[in-house]
Amino acid sequence: MVMADRNAYLAEMEVVCWRRRGSSVAAEHAAGSAVGSSPNQAGTAAGVSWEKLQREVASCTRCALHDSRRNTVFGSGSTDADWFFVGEAPGREEDRQGIPFVGRAGQLLSAMLFSLGLSHEEVYIANVLKCRPPDNRDPQGVEVNNCESFLHRQVAHIGPRIIVALGRFAAQALLQQDVAISQLRGKVHQYNIGQLPLVVTYHPAYLLRSPTAKAKSWQDLMLARSAIE
Ligand code: URA
Repeated sequence: MVMADRNAYLAEMEVVCWRRRGSSVAAEHAAGSAVGSSPNQAGTAAGVSWEKLQREVASCTRCALHDSRRNTVFGSGSTDADWFFVGEAPGREEDRQGIPFVGRAGQLLSAMLFSLGLSHEEVYIANVLKCRPPDNRDPQGVEVNNCESFLHRQVAHIGPRIIVALGRFAAQALLQQDVAISQLRGKVHQYNIGQLPLVVTYHPAYLLRSPTAKAKSWQDLMLARSAIE
């Protein structure tokens, strides 16, 4: 990505551009993508189990959402990713394309990634729910309960260095805590499976409605970065 593009994304995130002393952004980027590759990726067995998981999601009928979906939305990005971002559930466009975060919230998520010097290709992005709730209503408890094991298996397979929960539903499902997002932000949690650091931030859709919260979201992303440095 050329520098002008990156600055445009930073401006969209309303953050001030900074970089580590004595390092270029490109060098940071390269260093970040080189570390921490998952031991789970080494063998064919891992590839087979990942494909099996994809097939299970694609054919899932555990809850009523399968009746109204056009596509399941498994996830996208690198299975070798250091950063794993977790959203809530597919929206209309994601349901149409079968890819997470391709609508307006996805554009802002792209800005958040680029402000970190990351691209969609080098992180992994998935949702708690793999099917779209009708009319974009909130996920129901039974849907989360039926679906969340897929997410836990995705995290276990990829073995990221950090999980970023986007919004209340992702945070509560991953941490198994029924607590307001205001109480979950601002600290590094431990995700129990694998003892991974997990940071909670606002959902990009919320940030579109409440742009003044972008500064807090930027603090959360910096906290996540500091947790793995
Ligand atoms: N919102 C989400 O939580 N996930 C998506 O994939 C799109 C919008």
